[in-house]
Amino acid sequence: MQIDVFTLVPHAFGWLTEQRPLASVLGTEIDLRLFGYRDTTPLANGQVDDAPYGGGPGMLLRVDVAAAALDAVYGGVPEHRVIALTPQGRPLDQRVVEELAGEERLTLLSARYEGFDERIITHLCSDAISIGPYVLSGGELPAMVVVDAIARLQPGALAEESPRHETFSPELEGGVEFPQYTRPAEFRGWRVPDVLVSGDHARIESWRVEQSRARSAQ
Ligand SMILES: C[S@@+](CC[C@H](N)C(=O)[O-])C[C@H]1O[C@@H](n2cnc3c(N)ncnc32)[C@H](O)[C@@H]1O
Repeated sequence: MQIDVFTLVPHAFGWLTEQRPLASVLGTEIDLRLFGYRDTTPLANGQVDDAPYGGGPGMLLRVDVAAAALDAVYGGVPEHRVIALTPQGRPLDQRVVEELAGEERLTLLSARYEGFDERIITHLCSDAISIGPYVLSGGELPAMVVVDAIARLQPGALAEESPRHETFSPELEGGVEFPQYTRPAEFRGWRVPDVLVSGDHARIESWRVEQSRARSAQ
């Protein structure tokens, strides 16, 4: 799968690309390309944004700048999905992540400041996604969230069993994961539930199902 991210801050992705599971699937399952709007802007002095018509605070990513970036990479608006990352978009959830992971090519556009000139969303993008009902300062973190969530679903990204019993997985009926514990078995008087150290795998399994259902019902 090819994922292209357009951003004002390509270097922000340096940390993410070194982390597993993304690092494990980069170059095999995922080809991640980062493009900076400033590298292709048609405006002087690396300008990419401008004040809103009608007044108001802040600056908007210009439509000619976003179009030039897409032209430089694809020779126009590509056939595949081009997603604007915006708090006004369709909420991201695991179902949407699975849908995105099914695409062969995906382009993510991020903005900063006051956001996008609306024509970027209406004429250059196929759809818009929000990572949650809150406003961040830029689309870089949202793009990383989308890329990381997609990476986890790629073959070879995780140890064989781990994604199967994860929160939102069909194995947990779409619910949340059961509580998990590791050593020590007791710390400050806080004990791990006896069932987990019983060695009785059938009891452990049904305890986990019960716990997952109870948590999911809350
Ligand atoms: C400060 S926000 C712009 C908010 C915009 N003025 C509004 O009121 O809807 C700047 C950029 O950060 C990104 N962003 C912020 N919050 C986001 C969210 N919840 N989901 C996706 N992208 C977000 C988007 O790319 C957005 O254009």
